[in-house]
This record gives sequence, C-alpha cells and structure tokens, in this order.
Amino acid sequence: MTTAPASANGALTFPEGFSWGTATASYQIEGAAGADGRGLSVWDTFSRAPGNVRGGDTGDIACDSYHRYREDVALMASLGLNAYRFSIAWPRILPSGRGAVNQRGLDYYKALLDELGHRGIAAAATLFHWDLPQQLQDEGGWAERDTAARFADYAAVVAGALGDRVDRWITLNEPQVVASHGYRTGEHAPGVRDPDAARAATHHLLLGHGLAVQALRAGSPGGVPVGITLDMHPVRLPGGPGTDAVEQASRIRDAELNRLYLEPVLHGRYPAQARQTLLPPDSVLALGDDLEVIAQPIDFLGVNYYAPIFMRAGDPADLRHGERKVAGGDLPGVVEYAPAGLERTPMGWLVDPEGLYELLVRLSEDAPGLPLYITENGCAAEDYVNPNGDVNDVERIRYLHLHLDAAARAIRDGANLAGYYLWSLLDNFEWGYGYQKRFGIVFVDFGTQRRIPKASSRFYASVVRANAVPALPAT
Ligand code: FCB
Repeated sequence: MTTAPASANGALTFPEGFSWGTATASYQIEGAAGADGRGLSVWDTFSRAPGNVRGGDTGDIACDSYHRYREDVALMASLGLNAYRFSIAWPRILPSGRGAVNQRGLDYYKALLDELGHRGIAAAATLFHWDLPQQLQDEGGWAERDTAARFADYAAVVAGALGDRVDRWITLNEPQVVASHGYRTGEHAPGVRDPDAARAATHHLLLGHGLAVQALRAGSPGGVPVGITLDMHPVRLPGGPGTDAVEQASRIRDAELNRLYLEPVLHGRYPAQARQTLLPPDSVLALGDDLEVIAQPIDFLGVNYYAPIFMRAGDPADLRHGERKVAGGDLPGVVEYAPAGLERTPMGWLVDPEGLYELLVRLSEDAPGLPLYITENGCAAEDYVNPNGDVNDVERIRYLHLHLDAAARAIRDGANLAGYYLWSLLDNFEWGYGYQKRFGIVFVDFGTQRRIPKASSRFYASVVRANAVPALPAT
C-alpha cells in the first residue's frame, strides 16, 4: 500500500512515482471530423441534428487538437506533467466500426504517442469515450450483443498497432452514462429513449469491456496494464440514515449508479439491490459465461469523481427547497437534496471533496491491493480573458485544492491511489452543453484556436513540482 508522508511544513505529500496528468477525449478536442478517412460517429450525427446540443455546437472543429497535438503536448510538458489520458476515436481506426482498418487513423495516434514519448509523458489511452461508429449504431449499437464483439476486434487492432507505445489501456469511459444518457434519457448520443435498450446496453458495454481486456492482453507486447474508468457517485447521508427507508434507498441508488458496473467487473455479479428496471433482462444475460468474461482481473480501476448524491427523509410529493425526487422512480419517504452551504459549479454540480475522500477509502477497502487512478476530476467555471490578457480562475484553483487535499488525505488513510488526471487540459466540446461550459486549465479561444494557460494551470504545475498540496494561494 502506498503511503503519503507529511512534509516538513505539514503539507500532505503524494507517493513517489505518482502519476500527474490531464484527461481529454477524442470527440471533445480533436475536430478534423472529416480528415484522413475518419468515419462518422454517433456524436457527429447527434450534434448535427437541431436541438440536441446547446447553440447547435458540434465537434467538427473543437480544439483542432488533431492538427495541433504538438502544441498541446508541449503545453503539458511546460506544466511538468508526467501522464496524459486521451481517447482513441474508434471511427478513425475502423470507419465502419468493423472490417477495413484505416492506416491514417493509426498513424495519427502513433505520432501523438511518439510526441508524448519524446516529452517523457506516459500515455493512458481510452478505447471508447462515447464516439461509437455510426454504422454500428445503425445496427442497434450497444443495445446489440454484436457491438461487444466488434469492440474486442477494434481493441485487438489498436493493441497490435499501438501497444508498444501505450503505458496504460482503459477500455471504456463511464459506461453508466452511456447506458443512462445515451439509451434511457436520450440526452446524449445516440439519443435513444428506450429503457429496455438501456438495460441491454449496460450488459453489452460490460461484456465489451471483458472481451477487450482479453484482446488487449493478447495483443499488447510486454504486458501493458489494463483497466476501466467508471463514474462514481457516492451516496452520502451526513446525519446518518435516520429512517429505514433512507437506509434502503441509499443502498438501492448506490447499487444502480455505482455497483451496477463495479460488481460485475470486480466480482462477476450484478448487485441484488438494484431495481429490475435497471438490471439487464434475463434474455440478455442467459447467453453464455458473460459474467466470467466481464470479471477478467483488471490491473487498475479508473475513477471519475465530480459530485456525490445526498439523501434524507422527505416527501417526494411535497418537495422542500433544494430537494428533488430520487432518480429512477419514487421511493416513498426519501428525497435527494442539496445540503445548504455546499457550493455548486456552473454545471449545477455540488462541490464536495469529502465525497472523494470517502470513495477512495471505501474502494480500497472493497478491492484491497487494486491500484486506483482518479481518471477525471475538475470543474466548469465562468472563465474569461480579463483586460490583462489573463484567465484568473480562482474558483477552479479552490476546487482543485480541496479535491487534491482530499485525495492526499485518503492516501494517508490507506487508499491505494496511484495517479490523478485532471479534467481537462483544454476547454472543449462539453457534450450537450457544447462550448458553453469550460473545464480546461488552458483557455481555448475557439475563434482563433489560441491557447491561454489559466491561473489554475500554474497552480496545478506547482502541485506537481512539489508532489504535495501547497497552501491555498491568497486571492
Ligand atoms: C465526464 C465525461 C467527460 C467530461 C466530464 C465533464 O462525465 O467523461 O468527457 O465531459 O464529464
């Protein structure tokens, strides 16, 4: 188990060899949507259809990182970062999702990986960060079992072509969000609103993960570590459960949001507490030894943390200020709520570093010895270039300081945390919000593609340099 000693001035330090990085995703930063033989993805189709994305924004150009990757890697190097999490666009490699490989797509990622290698930045490559080839969606996408097999084929291709340059593979990013937003509510691509499709997608995403783990292991020379990234939403009851209904509801929601993905991957079973409306149907499950495949041992777990959920006793039919119904149908006597005094980011997400602390400690108890990486954490802020030409994002510095402090405390208290990837390097295409929400530590002027490092990038560089959380700078 890693230990994080306190430094001479009392600051919490991180273990030696800790990975310090930023995270991005292909559709959100690359642009170059039609370049070099790239096929269509579901996000191209979805964002180009009116009404799906704020302002009608698309990822057609985004940060143009496809052409400006050298500048972006140089920015990371200037901040002293030693790790980078990015995603590979499946439709650049297999434009139709299957069959013929597009060599020019592979060449792009080879060039990016070589650039990272020259700068001493370790590469964590995610295979699926939501840009499914449109052609596979036309055949049903993740609601169809065949997509899992196609994902494994794609994994085998990238393992063979890029496995000598990648330091860490991540199969999927946030399958929970794909199933819920992509197939149940339709607020993300592919925009499907079908509860049964969402239940099936949950299982096929996980099956795809298991098959891809096998393919990556078989195809990557030298044993590149393989893991998955899950979005985790701790359910918090700060005053204790109070009633049995709250206790039970908190277990149900934890099962549906977190353990629906965690338990199959770690233990080869679906959580009994989840409601039938979210669990994969028997017809989907009955088709083989899927759960054994899904539970292939992984080398690390990637955790994305933004905000927890709070629950308390209340009346879903008579909500108080700050309360809302528990998602997924009414649970009598219980409500979700926003505790008074907790800040929210412009996304409306609660700022609660204690959620991160609890999560890391709990995961390390549940999966002893499994290295954890925070593969995303960060916040949107109302950033702007001030008259001096600077972006003084004090809210983001405060957010990062609080969460890095929570991570360091969790390590001190036994969490097996090996790295932190800040979301995000650059302002980028924030899915349904388009370019309206800025998450970067580097400001992007989308009209000119000029990059302007924000104050938070200098704060983060100082953390990385010290390998410790410094005192919060005076504002
Ligand atoms: C996560 C996504 C990532 C980004 C952040 C803000 O759910 O994985 O792409 O949009 O949220």
